[in-house]
Amino acid sequence: MSPSGSGSTLALLGGTPTGPVAPEPHPRFTPDVIDRVSDLLRRGCTVGLNKHVAEIREAEESIAAWQGVSHCLGTSSGHAALHCCLMGLEISSGDEVITTPYTWGASTSCILHNNAIPVFADVCPETGLLDPATIEERVTPRTRAILAVHIFGQPANMSAIRAIANRHGLVVIEDGSQAHGALHQNQKVGTFGDASGFSCMGGKLLASSEAGYMVTPRADVYWKASLCTQHMGRSSEPGFPEDLLRYVDSLVYTYRLSPINAVLLTAQLRKIDAENQGRRRNVAHFRQAMAGVESARFPSYAEGDDPVYHMLTMNFCPEVAGVSRDTYLAALHAEGVGIFAYVPSPIPTWPRLNWQTYTGPRVMWTESLRQSGVDYRTMECPNAHTKVARSLEMSWNYIEEDPERIQRLAAAFWKVEENLGALREWERRGA
Ligand SMILES: Cc1ncc(COP(=O)(O)O)c(C=O)c1O
Repeated sequence: MSPSGSGSTLALLGGTPTGPVAPEPHPRFTPDVIDRVSDLLRRGCTVGLNKHVAEIREAEESIAAWQGVSHCLGTSSGHAALHCCLMGLEISSGDEVITTPYTWGASTSCILHNNAIPVFADVCPETGLLDPATIEERVTPRTRAILAVHIFGQPANMSAIRAIANRHGLVVIEDGSQAHGALHQNQKVGTFGDASGFSCMGGKLLASSEAGYMVTPRADVYWKASLCTQHMGRSSEPGFPEDLLRYVDSLVYTYRLSPINAVLLTAQLRKIDAENQGRRRNVAHFRQAMAGVESARFPSYAEGDDPVYHMLTMNFCPEVAGVSRDTYLAALHAEGVGIFAYVPSPIPTWPRLNWQTYTGPRVMWTESLRQSGVDYRTMECPNAHTKVARSLEMSWNYIEEDPERIQRLAAAFWKVEENLGALREWERRGA
């Protein structure tokens, strides 16, 4: 079935574009929330040190309840939240953390910022998610943790990762920054780890302006993370452990959540389940409208695994299309589709990690990496390279259910699909 109005010339070749298909603006804040923020500003209430501040308490308690995890520490960013996870779990100099080579850099920099050593396993080439089958061969006597990332809102295989961690006495960290509300085996991500970090910056599913949170089922992790990252270690909150009191000081990272963002988070939390369902419904419409398009394919997910679609990821099939991904992207861009390849290259190839050859500005982790002797040049992750080469992403702020709008989006892909012959010729001519 071809809904493109077939026969029309590609915009890249001089035809009329199918045109952009506008998503909703995201995040949106209702007037009552804007009033609450204005009120905070009018009263000069711009700092919240701990749960004694009503807005901080409300946000942290609501998030903990929604996540289904006992402890939540609000933070200034997603990176801060992940850094809190590592500090709360006392992962430090020389400890190895097995992680994914296919993610946003902050999933890795939180390890580097504790002088620990990221060790990269490989991913499933279809989803880009950490492949549990590649983890165990990376375990050494120095391994302390596995850090999994739910990239693009897809849930990583946390049950398999947890089983490996248990076998080797490792802790588990989840990076759910792109996946608030995603389910693995019908259980929310963020509930499998010893600690999990989430970003709530403006582009995320649970969006504020700039914020994040750590959730953990372990009280000790909550307090130790607060000791390193929050004003006076939140020692004034009830339950702060007596044996930590002597270490309370201001030698901290300033990772506080502001009351303004706390108010925004509490408000967004009330909408997120409905918004996630809206995104999911529109993905279902899109997949239906794309049935028959062979040059871009969707990943498949196990029963009980339910992504939330911060972005929609697909995989380009050059062997079907007969053109390069760049040409395919150029054709879609010309039609007005906002599509891109999110991860530019596997993280172990990044220059700032390769201390043997690095000549740029000084970075704090070079010495730790040198001392560990880690050599990323030999740490192979072929599936991450495959995913990088084939991946196609779209931001997916399609929340209101609107099948007609989604069909217009699919029509651009159909148009390219039906004009692959002309596109091949265009590429061959080197146009
Ligand atoms: C997977 C992942 N981890 C961590 C982060 C860091 O979050 P933030 O930008 O809030 O520090 C991001 C943000 O883009 C992310 O996508």
